[in-house]
Amino acid sequence: MGQVPAAAKTSARTYGVVGDGRLARHLSHYFRLQGLSCVQWSRRQFAETGVTAAQALARADVILVMVSDAAIEPWIRQLTSSHPEFAERPFAHFSGALSTPLAVGLHPMMSFGAGFYEPKLYESIAFVGETGRPGFGEIFPTLPNPRFAIRPEERALYHSLCVMGGNFSVLLWQKLFGELESRFGIPAAAALPYLQQITRNLSQDSRAALTGPLARGDIETLEKNIRALEGDPFQAVYQGFVATRGPQEEKRQHT
Ligand SMILES: NC(=O)c1ccc[n+]([C@@H]2O[C@H](COP(=O)([O-])OP(=O)(O)OC[C@H]3O[C@@H](n4cnc5c(N)ncnc54)[C@H](OP(=O)(O)O)[C@@H]3O)[C@@H](O)[C@H]2O)c1
Repeated sequence: MGQVPAAAKTSARTYGVVGDGRLARHLSHYFRLQGLSCVQWSRRQFAETGVTAAQALARADVILVMVSDAAIEPWIRQLTSSHPEFAERPFAHFSGALSTPLAVGLHPMMSFGAGFYEPKLYESIAFVGETGRPGFGEIFPTLPNPRFAIRPEERALYHSLCVMGGNFSVLLWQKLFGELESRFGIPAAAALPYLQQITRNLSQDSRAALTGPLARGDIETLEKNIRALEGDPFQAVYQGFVATRGPQEEKRQHT
C-alpha cells in the first residue's frame, strides 16, 4: 500500500471508488454532497462499457475498495500485479472484520440499505480504523465524521459485536413481525411503537433499557417461554440469551 498523498494535495485529491453495491452507492452519494472529487469503477460498468479498472482509476490519488469482503484482497492484488504503478497509491477498504497490509480498514458503523439517508446522518457515521496505520483523517481530511482506531487483531471481535447488535437484532424483529402476522393475524405495524420505544430507551440509557423476564430474573416465565418455543430454532436463541445473563442473575439473587 502506498503513502497517503501529502496534505497540500488534499483539496485536489481524487478518490477512486471500486464497486457499486450498497456501501459504494451511499458513500459516493455522501462524497458528492461533500464536494469530493470521485471516479468510479465496477464490474457492471466494465461489462457495459469495457472500461477497465486501470483506465477508470487512472487519476485516482486514493483507491477506496468497496467490494465484498472476500474480493478485497484478490482485487487489489490483481490490479497492482497487472498495473504496478497502482502499488504506489494508498488503498482503503471498509470491511469491519478484515485486516490486511494491502489496504487500511475504515469500517463505517452503520447499516446501508435501500435509499439514501439525510445528509446529516452521513456526517454522524463513526469510522473505525486501525491503530498504527493511516486513519480516517488522513484518507478523508475534509470530512467531519467521528473516527476511532482499534488494534488490527481485534477487528474480528469488534465486528462480531456490530453484527450481533445491528444484524441479529433485525432477525429477532423480523421473527416477531412475521409470527405476529402469520400466526396471530396482528399487523407488524402494531409492534412499531414497541420497537421505537426500545430504541429510544437504548439511546437514552442503554444500561437501564432491558425490561421483561430476563431483567426481572423471572425464572418461571423464562422456562415457560423456552417450552413454548419447542421445535423452533429460536428456542436455542432464547436459551443463548438467558445463558449470557447467567452470572448477573446469580449476582442479583445474592444481593
Ligand atoms: N452494507 C453495509 O451496511 C455495510 C456496512 C459496513 C461495511 N460494509 C462493507 O462494505 C463492503 C461492500 O459491502 P456492500 O454491502 O456494499 O456489498 P454489496 O451490496 O453486496 O456489493 C458488493 C460489491 O462488490 C462487488 N464485487 C464482489 N466481488 C467482486 C469482484 N471479485 N470484483 C469486483 N467487484 C466485486 C459487487 O459487484 P457485482 O454487483 O458485480 O457482484 C458489488 O459492487 C464490504 O467490505 C462490507 O463489509 C457494508
